[in-house]
Amino acid sequence: MKKRIKVKINEEYRSAEHKAARYFHSLQNQLTDKSYVSRLTNDFQTWKISHIHSPSILTYFSRKKRKPVVKGYRTYIEWLNYVGKLDDYLNRSISYLYMRDLGKALSSQSTQERINEVVKNMKNHLLKKDAEEGNFSVSSIYKLAKKEAVEHTMIWVLERLKQVTSHIPAGMSVEHAQRKILKILAGVLMHELEERRELELSNQERQTRLEKAIKLGFYYGLTYPLIDDLLDAKILSLEEEIQYSNLIRHTLETGEVPDLGKWSGKNEELIQFIHKELKEAFEYMKKQHDNQTWELFLNQSYIFFHSQEVDRKKELTNSTYSNEELYIPVILKSSASRQIVRSLMNAPEDEGYDQRTFYYGIYNQLADDLADMFDDQKDGAVTPYTYYLTYYQTRKDLINPFEMYWTVISYLIHDVYHSDSKTQEVILDRAINGLKRLKEKLGEQKYSDLMGILTKGFPPFNQLLQQMVAKADDVDFFDKLLRDHMIATLKENRREQTEFSEMFQSIRSPIEKILPITENTMLEKDIVTEAANYSLAGDGKRLRPIITWFIGVKELELDDAQIVPLLRSVEYMHTASLIFDDLPTQDNAVMRRGRPTLHEVYNAATAELTGLFLTQKAIEEQASLQDFAGSIVLKLIQYTTKATADMCKGQVMDLESRRKQLSLQELNTLCFYKTGIGFEAALLMPAILAGVSEEVKDQLKKYAYHAGIAFQIKDDLLDAEGSKEILGKEAGMDKDNDTSTFVTVLGLEGAKKEMWEHYCMALEIVNSLPKKTNFLKCLVDYIVNRNR
Ligand code: IPE
Ligand code: IPE
Ligand code: MG
Ligand code: MG
Ligand code: MG
Repeated sequence: MKKRIKVKINEEYRSAEHKAARYFHSLQNQLTDKSYVSRLTNDFQTWKISHIHSPSILTYFSRKKRKPVVKGYRTYIEWLNYVGKLDDYLNRSISYLYMRDLGKALSSQSTQERINEVVKNMKNHLLKKDAEEGNFSVSSIYKLAKKEAVEHTMIWVLERLKQVTSHIPAGMSVEHAQRKILKILAGVLMHELEERRELELSNQERQTRLEKAIKLGFYYGLTYPLIDDLLDAKILSLEEEIQYSNLIRHTLETGEVPDLGKWSGKNEELIQFIHKELKEAFEYMKKQHDNQTWELFLNQSYIFFHSQEVDRKKELTNSTYSNEELYIPVILKSSASRQIVRSLMNAPEDEGYDQRTFYYGIYNQLADDLADMFDDQKDGAVTPYTYYLTYYQTRKDLINPFEMYWTVISYLIHDVYHSDSKTQEVILDRAINGLKRLKEKLGEQKYSDLMGILTKGFPPFNQLLQQMVAKADDVDFFDKLLRDHMIATLKENRREQTEFSEMFQSIRSPIEKILPITENTMLEKDIVTEAANYSLAGDGKRLRPIITWFIGVKELELDDAQIVPLLRSVEYMHTASLIFDDLPTQDNAVMRRGRPTLHEVYNAATAELTGLFLTQKAIEEQASLQDFAGSIVLKLIQYTTKATADMCKGQVMDLESRRKQLSLQELNTLCFYKTGIGFEAALLMPAILAGVSEEVKDQLKKYAYHAGIAFQIKDDLLDAEGSKEILGKEAGMDKDNDTSTFVTVLGLEGAKKEMWEHYCMALEIVNSLPKKTNFLKCLVDYIVNRNR
């Protein structure tokens, strides 16, 4: 069985190679006879009419035509709209995606109509005054998914993405891995959305198909960072690399993921993780296919993988590669990568699609290689460009890849797309834009040196090109803007998160130090204080005093030293609530903060009295805030005593709810009372001291409501899914106690959904605050992503 498929897969590869060779030779002929130069020179004559505007005195003075200095994502879109260029911009961008990703022929009437429709919708969407659009935040993705009723699947993707990115080894870029997965996912989704337009589907069918497409897209997307990028990144040792690629090859040859077996090398843990992920991905994909389409998928994947391997194994120091050896794998890998997407999705065969993507691929690859030439060179990777740069002086037979690039363009416009004017327009826009971007990236000097080398053989055509690069306008593309913006946003998010966790870490230990309560030396033994200190000294997260510190000191500019009593008081109130919660008469817990609960160490009576003691201590601390006006301190005490009283009501609701089916509303109320109020207090106490306006206080309360409930839902989820070792308290308590929690009432999936709902609502409030704080944003992120 194994053998048969293996032979067959090799045959498939050979035949793909033959086809690629035929294509290569047609290109080579057009390159040698220089017919591409005259064809493209003609094309540019028409093209430039709409792209080169001779500067008139009028445009010079009209400020609105000038590009905005700051090329922010939103400002740029708004500027395009303002100067009336947005429609064309979107049209060329969407047309390009239809050609490249969906393999459509732009000359078709129905494709044109469809593109116009997409452009119209997109324009409306982009111009909506919703500040969240386009920021790639989890909440905007979640909301989008909600519209299509696929939020479960989206939560699944978010969780998986988080897990995968946390395993990306140092030496690979996390943002690029994320971006690639999302890009592939988006590509698969595009196919699905396009495919389903033709079908009459019920809502249920739409949803099921969409969920499947999302999962397929994610699983297939994984292979990019976990296979290609990993092998490119030189993280594995040579021996490991061989083991790893044998594993992939074997899988594609036999259609079964082999066991990992014994791994020799220091990246064993990483490979174990990847093996598990890819096995799951592979098996999911397999389930979606029948034998025939699955075989097609395997064949294409093999061609993709193998041609990449062939390229990867090349060495820049080897001076003997032939042109065929350089270009044929490029044709193979770039076309296979597009064709896989369709077979991955079981889309009906479409010969036009296969043809067009087959010819098209190399254009894309050469454009990418042109842009990345110097990075590739640094990495020692062989691409047609890096190889040419190394050997152009000694190997006169080598094809100049830049000439090849323009030959491909000419071939596509005239031979594949039959000189269609729209196609000509879009491809030339893209090509000139590519050069403009390259020039910007390299700087004038390096760019012109490079062009000197790459265009030696055809000075007049080069002159024309450089004239276009210098003067042509309106050649930029939305997907590029999106890409830059996405990378920038992902980086910024990570920077904020790192800043948050560093701050969190650094403030935690000074807070720990101020917590212990001094024992009364007049007494022989001050058991209550000793017991309180026992509870305080456990491994708590200190989340509430950290919030108080941050809001007080960083946001409201209260004095660090002056609010020490406030920090103590917050943690005393909270710790008291835990002591009560753990009592045998309540949750009956034996473990808390990584050690036995207080009543286990002392006894229930002492624990009860210690809880009471700590709530009183909390007020004593507040009453000692000497640097604030008496009336303000009174206000504070009025607020916190009520908060503590309300929390008692929450705990009673919780205990009364055992074995009962609560409604969602009842659950929310219960959780707000038992947990949300504690969060609210942490935020509001410094706000009261700083005398902030009622409006801001109201906003903070709304935020606390959602963040607090999200916190409790996460606590319920961790109780169901977490482990004692990490949590520092027993897991599974809620089930044992028959407590009504989000998980017991709504199930795991339902609880997750509710948690993300509250997450989004909390973020909406953060966005509406007059002063944006990263802290509050990162705090909800932390709340839903924490693992203890
Ligand atoms: C636990 O709070 C009680 C709940 C409100 C769910 P924390 O999870 O903040 O507990 P510590 O302070 O880190 O121990
Ligand atoms: C506790 O809720 C709420 C409090 C304010 C104490 P839980 O009972 O779920 O808290 P844990 O899981 O024991 O920490
Ligand atoms: Mg409880
Ligand atoms: Mg409990
Ligand atoms: Mg709990």
